[in-house]
Amino acid sequence: MTSEYVHGYSAPEAARLVDQASTLTELLHCDTTYPAGSLVLEAGCGVGAQTVTLASQSPQASFVSVDIAPVSLGRAKARVAEACLRNVTFHEADIYTLPFAEAQFDHAFVCFVLEHLARPEAALAEVRRVLKLGGTLTVIEGDHGSAYFHPDSEFARRAIQCLVDLQRHAGGDALIGRRLYPLLVQAGVREVCVSPRMVYVDASRPALVDGFIRKTFTAMVEWVGEQAIRQGLIEAEAWRRGVRDLYRTAEADGTFCYTFFKAVGLK
Ligand SMILES: C[S@@+](CC[C@H](N)C(=O)[O-])C[C@H]1O[C@@H](n2cnc3c(N)ncnc32)[C@H](O)[C@@H]1O
Repeated sequence: MTSEYVHGYSAPEAARLVDQASTLTELLHCDTTYPAGSLVLEAGCGVGAQTVTLASQSPQASFVSVDIAPVSLGRAKARVAEACLRNVTFHEADIYTLPFAEAQFDHAFVCFVLEHLARPEAALAEVRRVLKLGGTLTVIEGDHGSAYFHPDSEFARRAIQCLVDLQRHAGGDALIGRRLYPLLVQAGVREVCVSPRMVYVDASRPALVDGFIRKTFTAMVEWVGEQAIRQGLIEAEAWRRGVRDLYRTAEADGTFCYTFFKAVGLK
């Protein structure tokens, strides 16, 4: 390391870099660790974005991560190998019909999956089936109805609503975060505790301005624009203005709030 580095090597700067790297990871996963020797099912692991965090936070636990999409599993495997983690195995599987015996796992973890499913209750019941008595089930979901921001914009809210509508048309529920408690209870999960995790962003948190407002939330809304216009959910000009107004909240006087919901219960 040389002394030319513009931000320097002070302790506060080092802390800032650590904070930056662990933006949502810290908020969502800081309290998720599994005991040595336990077997954990991750259902709907996708490209392994959460797998790496789970497996590195609990190096003595073993993870079985499943997803229905082989292409995502391939990426997840590569990500885990790159992180030199050896405590994860992957399987192609449908969360509705898991290829595992009853009571096979000590714990289970599901993140950003239920929002895409037409039958989240059935999926939860199936994950519960493969859990041991006394094992924990952790579920994390967002809720797009929890997004509010400054400057407020009717167009931005309409653009977000397009995403909610499109997800509903596809059988999912982008507002599922607020339903986690009843869903888990209906699936027979006991002692359910839901903790809302709010992301608050202003210009004093540049990593979140870029990482959350621009690259996570607005990019996600922007992605469905063509589809929303094609389906007649919104006019092209209103859409463009909505996306522009969302990016506008990332400017120096803008702010943005969004809440994730994390539920933990027992079989
Ligand atoms: C938004 S991604 C989330 C991935 C990962 N949990 C994360 O947080 O990054 C949703 C994942 O659920 C998977 N999925 C959807 N339906 C599924 C099903 N019936 N069984 C298993 N996985 C499914 C998708 O393939 C996708 O990888």
